[in-house]
Amino acid sequence: MRLAVLASGNGSNFEAIVQSIEHGKIDAEIVLLFSDHRDAYVLERGKKHDVFTQSFELKEFENKASYEKALLELLQSQQVDLVILAGYMRIIGKDLLQAYPNRIINIHPALLPDFPGLHGIRDAFEARVEETGVTVHYVDDGVDTGPIIAQSAVKLDPADTLETLEEKIHAIEHQLYPAVIAKIVKDHQR
Ligand code: GRF
Repeated sequence: MRLAVLASGNGSNFEAIVQSIEHGKIDAEIVLLFSDHRDAYVLERGKKHDVFTQSFELKEFENKASYEKALLELLQSQQVDLVILAGYMRIIGKDLLQAYPNRIINIHPALLPDFPGLHGIRDAFEARVEETGVTVHYVDDGVDTGPIIAQSAVKLDPADTLETLEEKIHAIEHQLYPAVIAKIVKDHQR
């Protein structure tokens, strides 16, 4: 399977996925790492792992539609089978969704449908829930609303600070996302 990872920033999830591939745990190839920020740290990670990286920014285009068209063309030029959003901080537009039905997945740092949006970890922490976690889901045209593929929960410890909770959530993400991708790849090979 030919994978594309779309990421806007740090790229720790990209790193976890690429390492799983390098360790033979995912039988697929990352044929494209795209970032919508030319200075995103994830691009350094991509180069370090010899992944084909590309980057352009929305503001370089006339509008969102032409940005998405360029992104779609890039994905098609690499014959991508599965689009993996890993900290990609944009809504996926209609044309991309239509081109990859059930082929775009996202990871969210909360137990959806609770705490969608930009601050899943903080919002759960401030709501003093007993447990929160991580969700991997298919992407649709809403914000963190598509069909759920897998979830992993963690109990909030009374001693947790926002920082310790963030660390726990990210550690879960780095396990769950590669595991889900490995399963999708296997199912695809059948
Ligand atoms: C992760 O917490 C992910 O769940 C959210 O954005 C964050 C990206 O982190 N969608 P990183 O760039 O993979 O380190």
